Amino acid sequence: MKIAICGKGGVGKSTIAVLLCEALLDKGFQVLAIDADPSPHLARLLGFAEAEKIVPIAEMKELLATRAEKDGPFYSLNPKVDDLPEKFMLKRDGLKLMVLGAVREAGGGCACPEQTVLRRLLSLLLLQSQEAVVVDMEAGVEHFGRATVSAIDAVLVVVQPYRGSIETAKQIARMAQDLKIPRIYFVGNLLATAEDESFLKEELGVSPLVSFPRDEEILQLERKGIPLKEAQGLAKTTAFKLAEELLKHLQDGT
Ligand SMILES: Nc1ncnc2c1ncn2[C@@H]1O[C@H](COP(=O)(O)OP(=O)(O)OP(=O)(O)O)[C@@H](O)[C@H]1O
Ligand SMILES: [Mg+2]
Repeated sequence: MKIAICGKGGVGKSTIAVLLCEALLDKGFQVLAIDADPSPHLARLLGFAEAEKIVPIAEMKELLATRAEKDGPFYSLNPKVDDLPEKFMLKRDGLKLMVLGAVREAGGGCACPEQTVLRRLLSLLLLQSQEAVVVDMEAGVEHFGRATVSAIDAVLVVVQPYRGSIETAKQIARMAQDLKIPRIYFVGNLLATAEDESFLKEELGVSPLVSFPRDEEILQLERKGIPLKEAQGLAKTTAFKLAEELLKHLQDGT
């Protein structure tokens, strides 16, 4: 399954992406995490020490060029995760991390080429049944305009119980619908009270698939620079529930 995690800036996309990766790993999945934020943080949150060694996917352009442009290893077949060149990833047991990359300089222009490479990678990549791709998207809606996530099985829209976050979440959900993404789910984050829960449900018009509580453990791990796989509390349990809900919906075709 291919999952993209979206939402307004700072709502908890990277945190939930990492917790979901860890939950899927615990369930025996092979996971490819893709950090599509031009200011990447997944390596740190996943506990990879040598983030600077990774070659950004943006440099995979030639490999993913269309047949008409160039002949190469990936055009006649859909690449499997194992076919992807090692230099583009960091690895630990069951987990691979790729970054979209191209850290742009101030005033350095647009991320269009990287988005095109990511779109092609997501649509060409052929997954085995126990493999998952989790993409941590850039904040906001820009990538929807470029249809970067058009080949995704499920979009998770992370949303906190305040109006700004909810408006962006609804806009993302509409754009994902326009792209005909088969499954679009809201995921609540940083809920502290029953009122938070009812406000979110009322404003969204549906219940989130799951909601993460405000979890002091997550905050402390992040502050101390400790990878989120060390989390043992409510956030971990909720991530498990999220993984189970996703698997159930994907298996049911709902
Ligand atoms: N459920 C939670 N409980 C406590 N703290 C959280 C929770 N979710 C996220 N945070 C904290 O909120 C901050 C922002 O989270 P995160 O970096 O995951 O957001 P983001 O949506 O990826 O941000 P950006 O748009 O900048 O990429 C981090 O300090 C993170 O530790
Ligand atoms: Mg992030």
